[in-house]
Amino acid sequence: MKYIIGNWKMNPDKKEVAKQLVSDYKKIAKVALSSSIQTVICPPLIYTEGLIGKGLQPLHFGAQDVSFTSEAKTTGEISATQLKNIGIKYVIIGHSERREIGETNEMVSKKLTNTIKSGLTVILCVGEQKRDSAGLYFIEVANQIRESLHSFPENKLHSLIIAYEPVWAVGANATHNASPRDFEEMAMLIRRTLTEQFSKIKSFAVPILYGGSVDKKNSQSYLDAGADGLLVGRSSLKSKEFLAIIEKAITSTKK
Ligand code: PGA
Repeated sequence: MKYIIGNWKMNPDKKEVAKQLVSDYKKIAKVALSSSIQTVICPPLIYTEGLIGKGLQPLHFGAQDVSFTSEAKTTGEISATQLKNIGIKYVIIGHSERREIGETNEMVSKKLTNTIKSGLTVILCVGEQKRDSAGLYFIEVANQIRESLHSFPENKLHSLIIAYEPVWAVGANATHNASPRDFEEMAMLIRRTLTEQFSKIKSFAVPILYGGSVDKKNSQSYLDAGADGLLVGRSSLKSKEFLAIIEKAITSTKK
């Protein structure tokens, strides 16, 4: 299975726009699924319940964050169980924009181990701040993997997706795009780091996605470099752009 995941961040401002986007994506999600591509949308939570349809749906929904705890006394938090109960299937954890406002690997680790107990699939985001000629960024990403997953149970590895998102390539302030080769090298390092803790077979089965300024022009190059899918920000809010990304992914499965 490959994954095309839209992260809407704090957009759009109006629920009607969210509804329109979801209705634009529903039909293609069905076609994509028949080519083993799962489409997932992660809207702001406030809209999600109104967007999730009843029964089995080809378009899945994710949350952009989750509480580190299941304790009901934690004001302002939303638990993994609550997400699960409204029909959410995926949770993004450790996105760089959350790390920017103070989320540490230790917090990410707690969120992962707590969320996994609820039967949700977790999407762990990792990525270096910047690149340096000595290659220290490889160590930065390897440490994010080690410290975020140290208490992750091996028997839940099938519910883990990793998204490699170099911070310098994410969002409107991105300095430039990552190359497919950048992705390939980092995916190799991520898999090798996973094998320090988990069996080789299970480590190699963890899907590794690419994210960071993905658009319809560059999406295919990351999939061709072996990405198991894409985590798409801005382009998932533009209907034509996101549909084109999914269409290209579908076509490439038929080659
Ligand atoms: P972007 O965002 O595609 O707008 O760079 C990606 C993300 O933040 O997940």
